[in-house]
Amino acid sequence: MATCLSTLSLAEYPFHSKAIERSVHQAHAHPWTPAGPGDVRAPCPMLNTLANHGYLPHNGRDISQQNTIDALGQALNINSTLAVFLHQEALTTNPAPNATTFSLDDLSRHNVLEHDASLSRLDAYFGDNHDFNQAVFDETRSYWTSPIINITTAAAALAARKETSNTTNPTFVLSDIGRAFGFGETAAYILILGNKTTATVERSLVEYLFENERLPLELGWTRSAVPFVEDDLFTLLDRVVNATGADASLVKRAGLHGGRRV
Ligand code: HEM
Ligand SMILES: [Mg+2]
Repeated sequence: MATCLSTLSLAEYPFHSKAIERSVHQAHAHPWTPAGPGDVRAPCPMLNTLANHGYLPHNGRDISQQNTIDALGQALNINSTLAVFLHQEALTTNPAPNATTFSLDDLSRHNVLEHDASLSRLDAYFGDNHDFNQAVFDETRSYWTSPIINITTAAAALAARKETSNTTNPTFVLSDIGRAFGFGETAAYILILGNKTTATVERSLVEYLFENERLPLELGWTRSAVPFVEDDLFTLLDRVVNATGADASLVKRAGLHGGRRV
């Protein structure tokens, strides 16, 4: 007779119960509510997700360094050094002089950090460069040809989006920092949702994050027990660069490598 999973207690799954308990706890402690009137959001699926769960201010405004450290740490187990680095990058998008905070919509300022050839957003030339766009994402997904995304299929999707933008957008441009961020973003979804050693991630988790702007807790994803450090991101970033055959020295010059601007 078929067993109904929902009738079994967690204790009957000794190998999975701890992870499931952590997911359930995280979902309850930080329930998900989409953006409402007056809330602002970013071109970043993860920051939007963290605001939707209330790890970041739900209105998406005036995010301090401590907010960023707490949100990235509590939700994703990103260490504070990496969180501070990302916060400093974000501050460059706030037009106010000597800003110490940013709002999620600051991140949409074109060609500061936001760049063309995104995985799930239109190029600014075509209009809305911040909201999720299903058609753009469908192009990206079409390169993720198996249930497990690996470094080759991840890099292929990124390269394809650049090729499409290059051939359709007469104003297409990718600065060094834009290119570096693009590589970093692909590295980031593999790192945070997948396995940094094998550089693989379940496609369903990535699709869920992008399409719902919600942590894929109900699909069984759990926050890493081990903190993510800068080196994790930059090691994976290098692997993405190598898989696309791009010139890694350009990425290093853009200052994302090693967490330093040069
Ligand atoms: C303070 C921390 C962060 C900042 C300031 C930030 C900023 C940004 C910005 C400006 C973009 C838009 C780039 C573009 O596509 O034009 C972006 C996209 C993205 N971010 Fe973040 N991000 C942060 C944290 C994260 C984390 C922790 C992840 C982990 C998964 C992540 C994953 C992504 C991905 C996958 C994209 C690409 C979206 C697309 O191409 O459509 N980000 N981020
Ligand atoms: Mg973009």
